[in-house]
Amino acid sequence: MTAHYQVHGTVALITLDNPPVNGLGLATRVALAAAMAQANAEAAVQAIVITGAGKAFSGGADIKEFGSPLAFQEPNLHSVIALLENSPKPVVAAVHTVMMGGGLELALGCHYRVAAPGTSVALPEVKLGLIPGAGGTQRLPRAVGVEPALNMIVSGEAVAAEMLAMLPGQKLFDKMAASKDSLLDEALAFAASVAAVRPLPRVRDWSCKHPQGDAYFQFARNMVKGMAKHFPAPAKCVDAVEIATQKKFDDGMAAEREIFLNLMWTSESRALRHLFLAERAASKIPDVPSDTPQRSIQSVAVIGAGTMGGGIAMNFLNAGIPVQMLEMQQEALDRGIATIRKNYEAQVKKGKLKQDKYEQRMALLSTTLRYDDVKNADLVIEAVFEEIGVKQAVFQELDRVMKPGAILASNTSTLDLNTIAAFTQRPQDVVGLHFFSPANVMKLLEVVRGDKTAMDVMATVMAVAKKIRKTAVVSGVCDGFIGNRMIEQYGRQAGFLLDEGCTPAQVDRAAEKFGFAMGPFRMGDLAGNDIGWAIRKRRYQEQPGMKYSKTADLLCEQGRFGQKTGAGWYDYVPGKRDAIPNADVVAMIAAHRASLGITPRKISDEEIVQRLVFSLVNEAAHILEEGIANKASDIDIVYIFGYGFPPHRGGPLQYADELGLFNVVQAMQRFALNPLDDAAFWQAAPLLQRLVAAGKTFGQ
Ligand SMILES: NC(=O)c1ccc[n+]([C@@H]2O[C@H](COP(=O)([O-])OP(=O)(O)OC[C@H]3O[C@@H](n4cnc5c(N)ncnc54)[C@H](O)[C@@H]3O)[C@@H](O)[C@H]2O)c1
Repeated sequence: MTAHYQVHGTVALITLDNPPVNGLGLATRVALAAAMAQANAEAAVQAIVITGAGKAFSGGADIKEFGSPLAFQEPNLHSVIALLENSPKPVVAAVHTVMMGGGLELALGCHYRVAAPGTSVALPEVKLGLIPGAGGTQRLPRAVGVEPALNMIVSGEAVAAEMLAMLPGQKLFDKMAASKDSLLDEALAFAASVAAVRPLPRVRDWSCKHPQGDAYFQFARNMVKGMAKHFPAPAKCVDAVEIATQKKFDDGMAAEREIFLNLMWTSESRALRHLFLAERAASKIPDVPSDTPQRSIQSVAVIGAGTMGGGIAMNFLNAGIPVQMLEMQQEALDRGIATIRKNYEAQVKKGKLKQDKYEQRMALLSTTLRYDDVKNADLVIEAVFEEIGVKQAVFQELDRVMKPGAILASNTSTLDLNTIAAFTQRPQDVVGLHFFSPANVMKLLEVVRGDKTAMDVMATVMAVAKKIRKTAVVSGVCDGFIGNRMIEQYGRQAGFLLDEGCTPAQVDRAAEKFGFAMGPFRMGDLAGNDIGWAIRKRRYQEQPGMKYSKTADLLCEQGRFGQKTGAGWYDYVPGKRDAIPNADVVAMIAAHRASLGITPRKISDEEIVQRLVFSLVNEAAHILEEGIANKASDIDIVYIFGYGFPPHRGGPLQYADELGLFNVVQAMQRFALNPLDDAAFWQAAPLLQRLVAAGKTFGQ
């Protein structure tokens, strides 16, 4: 049963019970409607209380019904809310913990609301590219006032019930319970006390006005435009709330419905809903059951206190987990600690971190020069130089000292994890934890699963990732794993585009107009052009047939490694990140082009973007086929959280699905005809060809 019915004296108590958050799926709606009918039919019942079992009043729509016709099947949420609002006996919502989306809309359909302190209240639909669709935009402004309601609806952020209860003139909460424990008793008593009051108060009958409506909504529109340039939903939130102040309630409801349905069909909302589900799916590994036992991780050691080691350590300190850092030289430790301090102090200065929290975190950090000191750590993460000999020395030491059962992780970005695991006598305990730079900021964590990595190690590191608030995606072992293997193809295309006639600024502008946080050349300058250079030098040895533009090598030969040297594809002023085009670099590109006998051509933004993005898509299809990634949506998560791919496009594969894979393959066939490009690369991957032949998408 997804809702229970009990009678306490003269009050019926209906308890939603659909774990984990009492989502309002069809079964729950049916059960709630049946319980309402029973309560209204029983003569002894004079009032009704609705609450939620477990960890929520209600988290709103059931995500399993997302985008499916079930969400609209009767009784739909609108009908259920109408049942409550039109109930001849008073209905009281007893809300606690979480009241979000449809959960809040349901409560707004009740005649009264009693809240437990600490209840998190939100209409988060905008985060899925939607507006609230079951009266939220029309009822919330009537209950809390226009401005507070619009703030909540446009941001989607949660507000504590106590804060809302303090708003002048608010009518959302009739009573704040003393505690969550006393909520039910207080709500039942409240319901009995209002059982005879008529007429029943209905939010829909309350007035909704703003004294300076025109000016306020104009102001709100300007704010929203700046905030969300690729998304239509925030501006539509403003429209819907403005309508609440202008039209009769039923007309406002009709307008809300129309806006909601129109947004459902936008690619932006599809992208956000895809990402919402993809993020949840990423934490699940097909052959590692969710009840796999986990190892306990109470302490962490980090080997190497450089760029990555320091950032990695901060993640654990932030989560309250003690960290030991190990280096070979005291100076390196001192430098590492100083960098961590500097990062925290910047956060304190900006008011993002309290001084005492900062001190607590630093107190969890210790340093050592000796392996014996770290032997009891539950998890050790290696972040030393990217050289196989250095990794070998470190892993042999770790194998010698670490307690049995400790997890040995490597942050390598390019080396073979199976080789690293084989340096130890316990390859089952070895896993890759590939953090992205800056490691304390970037959300993405690629978890690299070796051939012998144990199931419980996988289950444990996925849980650890959640604890340190990373979005983890599992990758098999291959050169570059998921993200960097794909970005290499993207970088190759960027290079060909220069050879054929583009400037770095033109390519970056097109990519950024598409929505990338940064175009490929600005990104190269940020990451360090020397990294790609080192990879290419290796490729020239190992895969001499692979075609590359040589421009990036010429740039590196001039020492233009990017922001860290003050000069790369662009120039940089110390302390600033603005990319200033450099005429000499543009001339160097032109001279190189001329030396190859290429006549430059004008290349459209469309071609630039398609070559960059479709190179990601084709490589991704190979990665999926080889089983390096478990699912297409994992690849989208990697690109959104690790590589600045525009969220409103939903990731490279979601974007390709939107365009139609047939069209994507057609474009690849055109690119293959370009003699200056790499025809072999543009052979559509077999998986892509099969999907096109079957008329399917990656999502399917
Ligand atoms: N920098 C990035 O953007 C990035 C991103 C992801 C992964 N990685 C990977 O992270 C690892 C570290 O990279 P980084 O950029 O932090 O390098 P780094 O040069 O900044 O730091 C490496 C640190 O390791 C220390 N070290 C070297 N040998 C050691 C040993 N035997 N024992 C203990 N300490 C030792 C060095 O003193 C140095 O402080 C590499 O495997 C790299 O591929 C780097």
